[in-house]
Parts: sequence; structure tokens; C-alpha cells
Amino acid sequence: CGIVGYIGNQDSKEILLNGLEKLEYRGYDSAGIAVRSSNDVNVFKVKGRIATLREAVDNSVETTTGIGHTRWATHGEPSATNAHPHQSTSERFTLVHNGVIENYLELKKEYLGDIQFASETDTEIIVQLIEHFAKETGDTLEAFRKTVSKLHGSYALAVMDNENPDVLYVAKNKSPLLVGLGDEYNVVASDSMAMLQVTDQFVELMDEEIVIVKKDNVTIQQLDGTVMSREPFTAELDASDIEKGTYPHFMLKEIDEQPFVMRRIIQEYQDDQDNIKLDEDVRQAVADCDRIYIIAAGTSYHAGLIGKEFLEKIAQVPTEVHIASEFSYNMPLLSEKPLFVFISQSGETADLRSVLVEVNKLGHKALTITNVQGSTLSRESHYTLLLHAGPEIAVASTKAYTAQMAVLAILAVDTAQAKGLTLDFDPMKELGIVANAIEALCDQNEKLEQVAKDYLSTTRNCFFIGRGLDYHVGLEGALKLKEISYIQAEGFAGGELKHGTIALIEEGTPVIALATQEHVNSSIRSNVSEVVTRGANACIISLEGLEREGDEIILPSVHTLLAPLVSVVPMQLISYYAALHRDCDVDKPRNLAKSVTVE
Ligand code: G6P
Repeated sequence: CGIVGYIGNQDSKEILLNGLEKLEYRGYDSAGIAVRSSNDVNVFKVKGRIATLREAVDNSVETTTGIGHTRWATHGEPSATNAHPHQSTSERFTLVHNGVIENYLELKKEYLGDIQFASETDTEIIVQLIEHFAKETGDTLEAFRKTVSKLHGSYALAVMDNENPDVLYVAKNKSPLLVGLGDEYNVVASDSMAMLQVTDQFVELMDEEIVIVKKDNVTIQQLDGTVMSREPFTAELDASDIEKGTYPHFMLKEIDEQPFVMRRIIQEYQDDQDNIKLDEDVRQAVADCDRIYIIAAGTSYHAGLIGKEFLEKIAQVPTEVHIASEFSYNMPLLSEKPLFVFISQSGETADLRSVLVEVNKLGHKALTITNVQGSTLSRESHYTLLLHAGPEIAVASTKAYTAQMAVLAILAVDTAQAKGLTLDFDPMKELGIVANAIEALCDQNEKLEQVAKDYLSTTRNCFFIGRGLDYHVGLEGALKLKEISYIQAEGFAGGELKHGTIALIEEGTPVIALATQEHVNSSIRSNVSEVVTRGANACIISLEGLEREGDEIILPSVHTLLAPLVSVVPMQLISYYAALHRDCDVDKPRNLAKSVTVE
């Protein structure tokens, strides 16, 4: 979910709606805004997108203060009733919330037994609790502080009080939240992107801080009332970075940006003598560890699988890869000197953060590889490597995945060099070749669109097979297809098919096979024959030089270890066109959110 707030002199409706549009990547099943006009609060809520909300908002309401929310449902189905903002029974208090309150049932029982609740959300408890304590203490700030101190879980909150119309009460724990500063106005937002339209000056908030936001003044306090002073930072994003431009979808734009991202990574990680440029502390942390534990989710987890191959094959560092949400409650036996590497496009994924909190408690070192400078994971780990991929807006991750693999390759080569291992591998030169190869593939749009049409227009399922690195890329190919076209897609190790899954192959089942690794080229092709013999419709993606007779998608030649950075591109494009042909919402697939800030 994402939240916004504005207090100032301009029309707040428009600023809030524009802000929410920029936050839609965080969830978009329902949305709402509450705006103050004289002493009245008008609440508009809908099930669906911000575009629907825009239609529902009464344009004649004059307002210069308001809060807004776009939701990814956790407690309570997506509906207008469960959408935020929520109000207390008397309608004095109005609130938006991102996060999950873990003890909401206990709080409800202890303080709010006689209250009739309007929604099924954990959020409503917060606003009712503020009202409860406001009656008790007669002081809104005190009631807000008391409420916040009783909440367990994650929250980014913004609250309006009818009796204090000049203030937005704001608090945060675990969920991201920034205050943006303007001249005679101030704003709050889950992400700076939402408010770039009105300011580029933002103040970071820390967990368990509360903020009193007025149009000409912002006060940050700790829960015990200690006032904190903090300098603003300038958001370096350019508003045009977050526009689609002439592209029909962000996803296509981001796929096309990959060569550019590769070149930027080369620039950022190379010094004047063409050596790898890496923070000495990071180098030392890798040198000092006896094992790397990669922690990630979704696409970033798939990049981690490739990262393990790089770190073990190039740098000879034993590496494990773990799904963050599993690791947090099922920690394996750790080595003596572990180094944790968190891979996250957003740097905000709650599943990773809960592992990081644990790792910090245990006193181990953590490195975050992320696209977002200043993100929670980056701030809370010891070291950060940035992806430099530019904002990724489409929910299905593309350029962040290739950037993650590139940065992991550079880290592996740097470690190998520091260890004095001999390598026939200049990573920057090879990444340059990768950039050119991706460019050539993006120009083959039409062919890939045809593959999507032929294989995936009407199918119910699809399999991706490969061996070694290709198997891991197949997992990502399957995830892309699932996410945006809703085709049941799975990635399998080529040799494992015959041990069960081959039972699913029937006449016409699409199988996409990857053949970019010479040492398994024959065996993966045997696996293709096994499925074709049983009626499958196979499409082979091979690396130049490994192709065989027949119609294959041939990838320009690159270093075999870096083949995943290239072989994923046709799969991204095939998924994109499959989703288009099936009339799916490419950039905002159902049920998903780009940044999942709840566990
Ligand atoms: C969400 C997104 C995925 C993403 C995953 C991890 O589930 O829908 O596309 O891969 O989170 O996100 P992160 O920002 O940590 O890489």
C-alpha cells in the first residue's frame, strides 16, 4: 500500500490523486482520499484503481488539506468499505495506514469492546483507538502518541483531526515514510516519487517516530517526546524518469532500457584505470567471510540463484540462496563468519527486512544490493551496492533483474581478483558485449511477438526447462509469464521432468527450452525430444554457436556465465506480448504489488 498527505494552500485533491497514481505500483485494488473543506471532511473511496477514484471525487470540493491511500489488501477483501481512509465513530478522526497491526485483536478487545466497526481492517482499530484516548486525555497529540506506543507491527500513518484542522499527525514503524518540504506547504508520502510534483526536498523518518506536520512547520519527535532535528535530502529522481514517454507500457520501456543500464553499471563500477571500483569495506567484508547467505524474494531471489553460481564459480566463495520469508523463521545452521547479502530492487520488502533485523541482532555483517538509495534495507545494513537501473515502475521486474546479475558478477570478479585467482574474464568488457546483445534482441520484437502468439495465445499452461544457469533463468521466465499473463507456468530442471512433471505434457503443451550452456547442450536437447515426442510444442532459445537445425531463437554470443543476462530478455518480451494478446494489464497485474511492505 502507499500513502500520501498534503497540508498547504493549493488544491490538495489534485496533488493527492497525482501522488497516488505514482504509488499505484505499491498496490491498486482499492483507493481513497479524505479532504478537508472548512471544518468538514469529505471521504471518497472506491474499489479499483486511482483512475476510478478520480472519477468518484467531487471536483467542486475546495480543499487545501488531505490524505490518501492506495491499497494492496491484507486484512479484509478489496472493497470501498475496506479501502482507506478510515474514520472514527464520531468522524472526528480520519486516517490512512500502510502496514499490518499484529495485535489489533488484542487492542480491540482491551479498549474498544463497545465500538461498532465499519470495516474488517486492522487499520480501523488505530483510528478508533485515537478517538478513545482523545476522549480520555483531551489532547490529540497525547492520544496519538499513546495509540502509536500500543501498536505492534508495521505502520506508516497519517491522521487528520477535525478539532485540529491545521495539523497532520504522522508516524512510522517498519513501513517506509518520508516528509516532503515546500514553501507554505508540506507533504508526506511512502515514496518520494509521489511528491516530486511539488518538492524534491525530503526528510527521512525513523522507526517509532511521530511527526506533527503543519503547512509551515514540521516537528519530529520520538515516542517519549524528545524532539529530533534532521536535515532534508534532495531526491535525485527526475520526474521524467517516472513517465512512460512514447512507450505503451512501462514494462516495455524498462526491457528496452537494459542495454543502457548495463552501460551505466560499467561506468559506475569502473575507475579511471579500468579496474573495478568498489567500496573497500565491501571488499573486506567479502574477503573476511567464510560463506555468503543471499536473502531475497521473487525475481530478486532468481537473481540470487545466478549470483550463487557467479560467487562460487568465479570467486570460489561458498554461497547459499534463501527465500526471505522462509529464512526468517527457519534459519539454517550458520557458518562461523557469514556475510548476508540482501538483494532487493525496492530495498523495502518486509520479508527481507525481518531477516535483516535478526541478522543485525546476531551481530553479523549485511550487504544490500538495491536499486533505491536510502531505502530501508540499505540504511539498516552495513554496506550497499546500488543497481543504478533507474526507477522500475512495472510490477514485473525486468531491468532490475539484469542489473542485479551484473552487479553480482562484478562483485564475484572483484573477490576473485582480491584472492589472486587467475581469470580469463574482463567483466566490464563482457558486460559491454551483453549490452550490445540485449540491444540486438530488443530489435527482434516481431519474431518474439509471433512466438507469443503461436505458443501462448490460448494455452492454459507453459513449461520452461533448462539445466544449470539456464534452469535458474527458466524459473524467472516462468515467473514473468505467470505474473503478467496469468498462464500457469513453471520452470524445471531439464533432467527432472521425467521424474514426474512430464505427466502434464499433452498435445500442444508449450515448452520453452534454454540452451546457452555448451556442457549441457546435448542433454537439454534430449529433454526437448522427450517432451516433443509426447506432443509438446517446443521453442528453443539457444546461444549462437550452440544452435541446431530448426527454427530457434538464437542469442548473440556472450560469455557463457553471463548468458542469463541475455537469455532472459526474449522471455521478458514473450511474456509481455503474451499478456498483451490475452488482454491483461501488463503494468499492473491482478493481485500483485511491486513493493510488498508487509510480511
Ligand atoms: C514483489 C514484486 C516482485 C518482486 C518481489 C521482491 O512480490 O511483485 O516483482 O520481485 O516483490 O521485490 P524486491 O523489491 O525486494 O526486489
